[in-house]
Amino acid sequence: MIRLSSTRRPALGALYDAISDRWQAGLDRLGYPAAYAELFRAGPAQAPGRMLDLGTGSGAFAMAALQRCGPADRVVLLDISDRMLGEAASRLAATGVAAETLAAPVGSDALAPEVFDTVLAAHVIEHLDDVPAALAWCRRRLVSGGHFYLCVSRPHWCTALLRWKWGHRAYAPDRMMALLAGAGFRDIRHVAFSSGPPSRTSAGYIATAP
Ligand SMILES: C[S@@+](CC[C@H](N)C(=O)[O-])C[C@H]1O[C@@H](n2cnc3c(N)ncnc32)[C@H](O)[C@@H]1O
Repeated sequence: MIRLSSTRRPALGALYDAISDRWQAGLDRLGYPAAYAELFRAGPAQAPGRMLDLGTGSGAFAMAALQRCGPADRVVLLDISDRMLGEAASRLAATGVAAETLAAPVGSDALAPEVFDTVLAAHVIEHLDDVPAALAWCRRRLVSGGHFYLCVSRPHWCTALLRWKWGHRAYAPDRMMALLAGAGFRDIRHVAFSSGPPSRTSAGYIATAP
């Protein structure tokens, strides 16, 4: 297996397990579901096909994709936190979506290359030690022409505080665009969020696999 994840991974999984039952309420309070919806509205109105959500948390990013783009042929949720995976799977099941769950880190060999039409990753890249390798791995999970939707923390005093507790890094949009290009993506777009905390602390990106 490619080693991409932070050496803090075991402790980090336990931290996310512990907050899993409150995670979605925090996202709702801060306006992240609305920001995620904004990102998918900026992308192609195209069925997601076979969709993979990396670092799914409570499944909010996957839900936003399905609400905007319609039903998927397959939904795989990946996370290092078993409890987050349970939260995400039950939230999706409540909307009639039977998702597969995979308790594994980004970079896992359990996922073969070129089997997904859509790959999602919201606020998980920040946890990874080798972002160029992680982005290249994401690109390789996509079929040619497949879409990558990404949300990443931007430098801000709030994200600096997050780093102290969660080891969460932040990337300026120019840097993120360059990393996506370096990983081999094309048609890369930065989508700025229009309101609330996500407009100050996060940014969205849409890219296509060549
Ligand atoms: C900041 S939360 C974001 C959750 C969700 N995507 C959202 O937008 O609400 C990061 C998530 O990524 C997971 N995670 C952290 N490091 C990971 C890794 N190396 N591989 C897979 N998941 C990871 C955590 O367990 C957590 O659920």
